Parts: sequence; C-alpha cells; structure tokens
Amino acid sequence: MPDPQAKRRVFSGIQPTGNLHLGNYLGAIRRWVDGQGEKENFICVVDLHAVTIYQDPDDLRDQTRRLMAFLLASGIDPDRTTLFVQSHVRAHAEGAWLLNCVTPVGWLERMVQYKMKSALQESVLTGLMTYPVLQAADILLYSAHEVPVGEDQKQHIELARDIAQRFNQHYGDDTLVVPEPMIAKAGARIMALDDPTAKMSKSAASKRGHAVGMADPDDEIRYALRRAVTDSGRDIVFSDDPEKAGVNNLLTIYQVVTRKTPEETVADFADARGYGDLKNAVADVVVEALAPIRERYEQLMGDPAELDRLMAIGADHARSVAEPKVAEMKEKMGFIVPADLRPGG
Ligand code: TRP
Repeated sequence: MPDPQAKRRVFSGIQPTGNLHLGNYLGAIRRWVDGQGEKENFICVVDLHAVTIYQDPDDLRDQTRRLMAFLLASGIDPDRTTLFVQSHVRAHAEGAWLLNCVTPVGWLERMVQYKMKSALQESVLTGLMTYPVLQAADILLYSAHEVPVGEDQKQHIELARDIAQRFNQHYGDDTLVVPEPMIAKAGARIMALDDPTAKMSKSAASKRGHAVGMADPDDEIRYALRRAVTDSGRDIVFSDDPEKAGVNNLLTIYQVVTRKTPEETVADFADARGYGDLKNAVADVVVEALAPIRERYEQLMGDPAELDRLMAIGADHARSVAEPKVAEMKEKMGFIVPADLRPGG
C-alpha cells in the first residue's frame, strides 16, 4: 500500500550546456525553489544527455560545476531537494539500457526534438536518438509522479509514460510509476530581448542583447534591457498583439520578478513617460534580484571543496533511491541479481 503521508515526488533535469539566463531562472529554477518542502524534489544536472552532441571535455566539466553553483546560489536547498549530477549515479545508464530493450525504434524516430536536432548534424550519434530513453530512465528510476517541464519536453514525458506502461505490461504491473508532465503556464515564458517572438535561448544567450545572463554584471543587464526590441507606440499594457510582444515581455519579466499581479504591474507604469521608463524599471528589479544570486554563485565557484561536498551528498541520496529500483527492474526482467544488489538488500 502506498503511504498516504508520502509526499508526491517531482523530478526535473537541466542540461549543463549553453548560458543560463533569466528565462531559465524565472521559468524553471525559481519554481523549483518555491516548490521545495511541499513535495519531494529531485533535480538532476544531466551531463549524460549533454554528450549526445559533442562537448569539449574541459568545457563540460566547467559547465557542470557552474550549473551546480547556480542552482545552489538560486536557492536550491540541499536539505530539501536532492540535487545531483546524472553521471554520478550509474543506475541512469543501466536503467536506460533496460528501457532501450522495451522501446520500439519507431517511437524514437517520431520525436520532434530528435528530428530537429538530427537535421542539424552531419552524422547523427546513436545517443541522440536514444536521448529520450535516458530521460525516461531519469524519471522512472525515482518513481516520480510529476515532471515540471516546458511545452517542448511534453512529447518526451509522454514517451516516458508509454515506456513505463510497456515495461509494466511485460514485466509486472506496478513496477514503474507512470509520470505526469506539469507544463508551465504561459506568462512564465520569457522571450528573447532582441526578438520577442522567440523564446530566450541558452544557445543564443552568448549573443549580446539576446538575454540577461545569470552571470552578467549589472551594467550588462542594463544594456541588454535598454536595447530590448519594442514597438513604435507608447502604451504600456499586456497584450497578445504580435506588434506589442516586446512590451508584453518586459511587463512579464517585471511582473514575475516582483511577484506582482498583472493589474499591479500595469498600475506601476501609469505615470511612465514611455518605454525608456519601463526598461529602466525592469532593469532595476532584475539587477536587484540577480545580484545576491551572482554573489553566492561566485562564492561557491571559489570553494570547489564545498561544491564537491554538496555534489556528493546529492549523489548519495539519489543512489539510495535509483539503485534498488534498477535492481527491481532487473529481477523482474529475469536477471540474476546478486544478494548485495537486491532491492532492500
Ligand atoms: N531533456 C530535458 C531538456 O532538455 C532535460 C531532461 C533530462 C529532463 N532528463 C530529464 C527533464 C528528466 C525532465 C525530466 O530540457
């Protein structure tokens, strides 16, 4: 019987590639921070996923540390969230193999993200195709009930559901929990400052003026926001008119950062003389919100031993959940599981 007191499990993953920006923080990371305690959270820095496209080895190591430091600096609390690096828990690779063997190739060929990413590659790595199977392993090894993701990941979570159901059909009904995608509402979508019709992107974030980078100094943040694309009008209102996408995005940033309502947000600009005032006000609240995060981030980056210690704590706890699950899957599939690896053993 499931324990009625047990908290719902939430699993999320984030890749250690590209430049972390305000959209990642407001759209994903701050929600994880806010949700801590209420549910049982696992957050995984998915370095094994990153190498489905070639990564420079030194870069990958560096980016993995930076992302860990940013997540901690943003308020992910290791006492309330299991924050860990995917490759530190071998069960992910092992679980992915087991799930590869219940996943028809046709399911993977249909994935929109695979089609898009593989079209950009001269030679497509096998890992890029089986990427969503590894993602399914991430989720299923922790028996997660909920997976908070953006719209772009919905198909992968649906695939994880199909894989879980297929495994359960073949090997025993209640082995794997079938997870639910939790899609973030609109409004949390932060658009690019240089093109407010497209999402702020990690891969484009190195372009000056595209995004507010989490490590950017104050003057760079102000520069990017002051240059943000707007329109030739002067109305400071929320609007879904594509013409006003830039103003809408600036208001959204202001609203989400300050946690105000849309009405309060618009009221704050009742006396504004134009978009210049709007941009300055957005810059002020963003600079104020990011400064303490950047300070903690720099502290952590200057203390590698502390970062190692926190990574080890997360990995230990993650292993204690994932390893018995893999053992259970192996037992159900007919492998001989040695006594010391048996679930509960
Ligand atoms: N594919 C996800 C992304 O690119 C990252 C990811 C990997 C993930 N494993 C996951 C997200 C498990 C949620 C759950 O955003």
